[in-house]
Amino acid sequence: MSAVDLHARASKEFEARLAETKALLQRAAAEFSPITQASSLGAEDVVITHLVNSLELDIPVFVLDTGMLHQETLDLLERTKATSRAPVAVYQPVRESVVHFVKREGKEPMYKSVQLRKACCHIRKVEPLERALAGKRAWITGLRREQSSARAEVLLLDAADERKTGRVKFNPLADWTWGDVWHYIKLHNVDYNPLHDRFYPSIGCQPCTRAISLGEDFRAGRWWWEDEAAKECGLHVRNKEEVSS
Ligand code: ADX
Ligand code: SF4
Repeated sequence: MSAVDLHARASKEFEARLAETKALLQRAAAEFSPITQASSLGAEDVVITHLVNSLELDIPVFVLDTGMLHQETLDLLERTKATSRAPVAVYQPVRESVVHFVKREGKEPMYKSVQLRKACCHIRKVEPLERALAGKRAWITGLRREQSSARAEVLLLDAADERKTGRVKFNPLADWTWGDVWHYIKLHNVDYNPLHDRFYPSIGCQPCTRAISLGEDFRAGRWWWEDEAAKECGLHVRNKEEVSS
């Protein structure tokens, strides 16, 4: 059974949410240029790229190729580069940093400690993200409230970091359900990562992602050996002072 067969089920609010998402993307492109979409090529992100392309918005896409992605993800990246109207840029980590880190800590440092895992994420994701976002007024992500308790308050427009970075973050699928995401994929026959058909709802790097079993949480397959509280890679860490002000 495919992920489409398993999950595609529109919520009552689907049409309203879709209309709101389209309006938000149009506003984001018109008022926040230069803007970019961060895509991990997961289900949410392929929906957003499909919307950007069908609305013919001037929003380029970027993918952080950590050097640790699954072959299935890399194949989808190639297909996306070939078919997307919006340009797709790929950011890679600084080669010397990776070589140095692997030499010092070995090939799989992420399992040794949270600190080393975060150091790996910093080199392979966070630093390249900074380059991808340099000079941008806004970025778009596929974060949804339903994904985890840490994401329960994700906003459609998050301006918490604006004072610090000069940049806002749009999360246009914030209130979509998983069923809505797959309903859209089914409706428009959107190309997606085949790992989703093998019980990977959330897909990151190969060593840090596993399939989940029935009844497990959406993000249970990400950094599964760590405590719940540690399980973010630094791409979406908010500045605490700004959040509370
Ligand atoms: S993570 O922080 O745990 O890695 P997750 O995989 O849930 O994040 O993805 C959340 C959003 O972060 C995605 O919808 C996408 O916008 C962005 N993102 C995550 N990984 C990447 C990546 N490799 N390249 C670009 N954007 C990414
Ligand atoms: Fe490294 Fe895993 Fe983080 Fe990817 S998710 S950058 S492999 S620690």
